[in-house]
Amino acid sequence: MFNKRTKIKALLASEQTGIDVTVMGWVRSFRNSQFIALNDGSTNNNIQVVAELGLLDEATLKRINPGASLKVTGQLIESPAKGQKVEIKATSVEILGDCDPEKYPLQLKNRPTLEFLREKAHLRFRTSTFGAIFRVRHSLAFAVHKFFNDKGFLYLHTPIITSSDAEGAGEMFRVTTLPFDKTPRKEDGTVDFAEDFFGKSTNLTVSGQLEGELGATAFSDIYTFGPTFRAENSNTTRHLAEFWMIEPEMAFYDIQDNMDLAEEFIRYIIKYAMDNNREDLEFLAQRLVEEEKALPADKRSELGLIEKLEFVVNNGFERITYTEAIDILLQSPAYKKKKFQYPVSWGIDLQSEHERYLVEKHFKKPVIVTGYPKAIKAFYMRQNDDGKTVAAMDILAPGIGEIVGGSQREERLEKLEQRMAEMNIPTHEMDWYLDTRRFGTVPHAGFGLGFERMVLFVTGMTNIRDVIAFARTPKNCEF
Ligand code: 4AD
Ligand code: MG
Repeated sequence: MFNKRTKIKALLASEQTGIDVTVMGWVRSFRNSQFIALNDGSTNNNIQVVAELGLLDEATLKRINPGASLKVTGQLIESPAKGQKVEIKATSVEILGDCDPEKYPLQLKNRPTLEFLREKAHLRFRTSTFGAIFRVRHSLAFAVHKFFNDKGFLYLHTPIITSSDAEGAGEMFRVTTLPFDKTPRKEDGTVDFAEDFFGKSTNLTVSGQLEGELGATAFSDIYTFGPTFRAENSNTTRHLAEFWMIEPEMAFYDIQDNMDLAEEFIRYIIKYAMDNNREDLEFLAQRLVEEEKALPADKRSELGLIEKLEFVVNNGFERITYTEAIDILLQSPAYKKKKFQYPVSWGIDLQSEHERYLVEKHFKKPVIVTGYPKAIKAFYMRQNDDGKTVAAMDILAPGIGEIVGGSQREERLEKLEQRMAEMNIPTHEMDWYLDTRRFGTVPHAGFGLGFERMVLFVTGMTNIRDVIAFARTPKNCEF
């Protein structure tokens, strides 16, 4: 019965008028006791419902408030008004759910700020901005699966709870059922995890990569797409404690193949959103223009959102080595004028100010940096012949900084064991991982794309809390 309704997106695209239709949705606005703008989330555009004077009694009219849900039946007609092809001439308007205008937080009159909406994240999907963001996010997720499926990659579901630490960064959320007040202890006073649910110490995963490598060394090409967790205390506009990551892992790939795939992948999913979410992206582009009006001219984006995306789809990424990146930074006016907060020298971990200088000021396009010092990268990265660097690659995007981290993996057993020993990673607990190098090892590579950072880039939003439904950040876990 309810499914007899037509979605507003389909109605607005309809070539046929004069037909009887039923729509359901939420009121965005109501003017002159006659014109209802109704939205059901299928598109950013509202359909105009015209309730001719006399159709509805006084009591019903009073209940048509922003946020109220309605069932409208009527005739789809050509709209005499500008800006829309069709509208509905109502024959009946039924209120499904009232919405008290005194209490409803999303009043159009005083346009709510993004910050305010973060606190009302349970309602913000109903705004035009968040409607557009989450439809684009959906399309990007769909495009991820389409891209890999079309290439014959297998979608591997790697575990959320794990006993290994893929990145060795030590910023993990512990998973336990041990009581806090009566923690079982061993004789030496340390916690006895043998008593814990899994009989060992466990965490939420920081990355599915290591398990992904097990898949790639059998299926050739796999990808994961799931939530990952990091307990890093970074309260920035780029970090979440729970974020989604896409991690492809490919056997018979070297670092060049890896870069080629990453570039093709990023271009593909952006293009998919541009082809399928044009209206939402145009809305977001306009939103960005409005937002940036408050900024001084030199702080505004050089390209509009759509132009920026087109540029990325149509142009290759710059590829440089870490050593070249350091040289560029040392030669930069920003460095000479002491504009960087952090020091620059060979061996440093690039800070976001450095990454942004390279992509936004120097190259003005996405940049892939390879050959990082091994001391600042994970144990599994393939060691280069110079003894100093590894076959790592990070992709840096304008306005975001690091969007992808990846590498060719160390496939040589001795080299890997030696590196693990140097980094105090217990090899006996990682026997399952080392088995891939013992039994038919192959050159292989992979990368991780931070999905929310990608959504930030495509939507032109600037705070990562605005592109995930319910953000988890330090001291914040609402909903
Ligand atoms: O560079 P990262 O730490 O690499 C890995 O986890 C590898 N295991 C990936 C691989 O080779 N399979 O993380 C990958 C990406 C980053 O480039 C960034 O986009 C994103 O994940 N990321 C975060 N996004 C949001 N919040 C955080 N706290 C993030 N940490 C990493
Ligand atoms: Mg990284």
